[in-house]
Amino acid sequence: MTTRARPAGDFDYEQHGAGYASVRRPDRRIAARVQVALGADRTVLNVGAGAGPYEPADRDVLAVEPSAAMRAQRPVAAAPAVDAAAEHLPFDDDSFDAAMAMFTVHQWG
Ligand SMILES: C[S@@+](CC[C@H](N)C(=O)[O-])C[C@H]1O[C@@H](n2cnc3c(N)ncnc32)[C@H](O)[C@@H]1O
Repeated sequence: MTTRARPAGDFDYEQHGAGYASVRRPDRRIAARVQVALGADRTVLNVGAGAGPYEPADRDVLAVEPSAAMRAQRPVAAAPAVDAAAEHLPFDDDSFDAAMAMFTVHQWG
């Protein structure tokens, strides 16, 4: 039995997400805002991470991504990704300094 919720948004990334990372490119202005928002936080959970285009390379990041098709598009050097969903995060409270979620909340249940 899984505790993972089915993605609830307007798009099925598992079925149709292949190739997503080839057209999803980070904008450096948004990346800069992410850095400012994270401040001095060192450990970061990225929920609904996809291929992780805005994951900061200078921090200890763990990704959460329920779609295997999306996890498969993460670069080899990207942070590790856990098969889980926002509705049932398999972590204790206060396990991370910060959490981020880019362009994914609309997909959550
Ligand atoms: C538009 S993509 C954005 C991916 C990445 N954050 C980015 O900025 O490129 C939305 C992502 O949310 C994920 N997602 C869908 N439902 C989710 C859920 N319930 N919990 C966590 N992630 C979910 C999808 O699998 C997909 O990878």
